[in-house]
Amino acid sequence: MEQGIRKPLTLRGEITPPADKSISHRSLILNSLAEGRAHVSNFLPSEDCLSTLSCLQALGVQIERAGSEVSISGVGRKGFAPPAETLDAGNSGTTMRLMAGLLAARRFTSTITGDESLRSRPMGRVIEPLSLMGASINGDENKAPLIIAGGNLRGIHYRLPVASAQVKSAILLAALLAEGNTVIEEPAASRDHTERMLRAMGAKIESKRLTITLTPTSAALNPLNLRVPGDISSTAFWMVAGAIHPDASIKISNVGINPTRNGIVEVLQSMGAGIIIENQRVEGDEPVADLLIESSFLKGIAIGGDIIPRVIDEIPVIAVAASVAEGTTTIRDASELRVKETDRISATATELTKLGAQIEELPDGMIIHGVTKLKGNRCDSCGDHRLAMALAIAGLIAEGETVIANAEAVNISYPGFWDDLEKLQ
Ligand code: S3P
Repeated sequence: MEQGIRKPLTLRGEITPPADKSISHRSLILNSLAEGRAHVSNFLPSEDCLSTLSCLQALGVQIERAGSEVSISGVGRKGFAPPAETLDAGNSGTTMRLMAGLLAARRFTSTITGDESLRSRPMGRVIEPLSLMGASINGDENKAPLIIAGGNLRGIHYRLPVASAQVKSAILLAALLAEGNTVIEEPAASRDHTERMLRAMGAKIESKRLTITLTPTSAALNPLNLRVPGDISSTAFWMVAGAIHPDASIKISNVGINPTRNGIVEVLQSMGAGIIIENQRVEGDEPVADLLIESSFLKGIAIGGDIIPRVIDEIPVIAVAASVAEGTTTIRDASELRVKETDRISATATELTKLGAQIEELPDGMIIHGVTKLKGNRCDSCGDHRLAMALAIAGLIAEGETVIANAEAVNISYPGFWDDLEKLQ
């Protein structure tokens, strides 16, 4: 599908962003491990989360979904059934890596694969620690399809080579059934939804700065009823749109502002964006707020170091903001972007350059020189949901028409994106 976008005169209104993708995945996986029935409301029925749902159903978990309302009948930590067929994680790295952790603890053999993009992404990062725990995982060149034969795991002390919540979560899921404690050290804080949810379900898990310790117990995990907060990574598109459009005022309600996820607020504020955070509250185990963002004058900044894992998914849209900020923005320490759904450094630089942005690629980031105007042109999401949406936000301030090829990629994380865009104009 192609999508055309023109600069609207104003960009005003209120958006309720889609539910958090990371928490939606975890609400299914963790509740499958519980004993009893859990109800999840405001679940995100996007393609990625539905991949997780069907993998769990293929393992014998009963899950009923009506729109964004989901009931999960947990099978307990030992109750999964061998799948009749190869499990399909689609485009979802979170599904594949978290499921690898869950499958590593099963006493049967299973195979999990994904689409072309996912089959090209590195899985050695989960294969290594899960193998150290005692699972046997085979993947050609450490890539999917992965054949996983699990069971009989032992706890490990593991220092993550990259700050990755997917790898951390895979290890924690396996650790629940291992013999002995598992200790994980992170190089920088990555999103901590798994730890929060496991703790709320009664698991014995402790986090001290960058070290997490899980002590397996024989007690069952309790089902966790929850309402999933709005996704700050989806909200980021409207935050940037509001900041860079000359006549904008956007209210975004019910946004998860977990401190391991909210780097986008800090980045945009340092660039000069006017963001008001109001009505802060805690829902379930996650902090939530409403955000108000208005047209702002942005300047370039340096982004790197420990903030990177807290903004990793927002960098394509930060590049859009930097493209029209005054001065230069440098993004460093973000080589992880090269192994996302696309090589997001190369794809973001190539596609935004088509719209008149001035971007130099670095091995671990980008140097972006602000320009006064972007110009509409044909560009391509390259099948990457976040790039599709970042290009759409660039299209909202470009002169003339921007046409995005493969625009349906938004369905991976934000199926209502084009409708919400329409609503603000
Ligand atoms: C996610 C973790 C991040 C993020 C991804 C979702 C998660 O990946 O980029 O979109 O839900 O755990 P990494 O763990 O590879 O950093």
